[in-house]
Amino acid sequence: MPEAALPSIALLATGGTIAGAQTGQSAGAYRAGSLPVEQLLSAVPGLDRLARLQAEQVASVGSQNIGLDTWTVLAERVAALCADEAVDGIVITHGTDTLEETAYLLSLVLPWTKPVVLVGAMRPATALGADGPANLYNAVALAAHPQAAGRGPLVLMNDEIHEASLVQKMSANGVDAFESPNGGRAGAMHAGEPHFVRAAGAPAHPRHALPQGAWPRVDIVYAYAGVDGALIDFLASRARGIVLAGVGDGNASDAALQALERAAGQGVAIVRATRTGSGRVGRNVEVDDDARGFIAAGELNPQKARVLLMLALAAGVVEQAALQRIFG
Ligand code: SIN
Repeated sequence: MPEAALPSIALLATGGTIAGAQTGQSAGAYRAGSLPVEQLLSAVPGLDRLARLQAEQVASVGSQNIGLDTWTVLAERVAALCADEAVDGIVITHGTDTLEETAYLLSLVLPWTKPVVLVGAMRPATALGADGPANLYNAVALAAHPQAAGRGPLVLMNDEIHEASLVQKMSANGVDAFESPNGGRAGAMHAGEPHFVRAAGAPAHPRHALPQGAWPRVDIVYAYAGVDGALIDFLASRARGIVLAGVGDGNASDAALQALERAAGQGVAIVRATRTGSGRVGRNVEVDDDARGFIAAGELNPQKARVLLMLALAAGVVEQAALQRIFG
């Protein structure tokens, strides 16, 4: 295909292991976000036959350091690229640790028009058998493909395509660390072509505006055997919202639930999610949410429930029933 006929893909780099370099200090030691985007692209043969690429370095961090400010910059940039008629698709390179949170955030604040593909790697760019180059090749091929449009931001890892609301990093190691435990992957790449296993669906949660100014503080509290309410009482005077990473069906000890109820009584939004990694936290199942002032997270994991709660609170939604409608 002549170069001018190739799709135009914008590539936004943020760092992560895909841009990581080994330090040599100990076996496996490396620093995420070390290499510039030009070096990542030069390691992927054949990209120039897939698309015309314009690359930008938005950040150079491990994704544990992706914060609300970076989210704002990234989301505004992607929104501008979505509105740019000269751009056909967008690829974001990102660390894998918080990749699902960024993907889910973008799925809530962007129009689902052009393909947006987030991609990372589990092995640093300088490692033997680095997975970044193949992932990046597939991400560009996916972003350049018309069938990737209308599905919201997609995550490409290890030849697999995942939807933003479902995808989750399920393992600390291994190139197959990503799964979509509540719905299965959306498809897979084969020989540079996407093969989707289902039609594009509607967003699972309502679209929100990106917060203007400070984001509301929402913290996550982990439940475990014998947890008391001390941490929750501490957070209640600081946070606008608390997400419970609960045991089982989003549950916690009587002491922790009582502390959450006290916080709800003070106007803190309380969302119950599960720490189990999959499944659904249903309203009023084991815990009487309506009576205690809580919101059930449904299928969102705690870190994604936090994202949705921040956006809802920033939009001025504070009432329990209205928040519950947003979570589904
Ligand atoms: C990070 O999230 O930046 C480090 C880990 C990774 O990218 O796999």
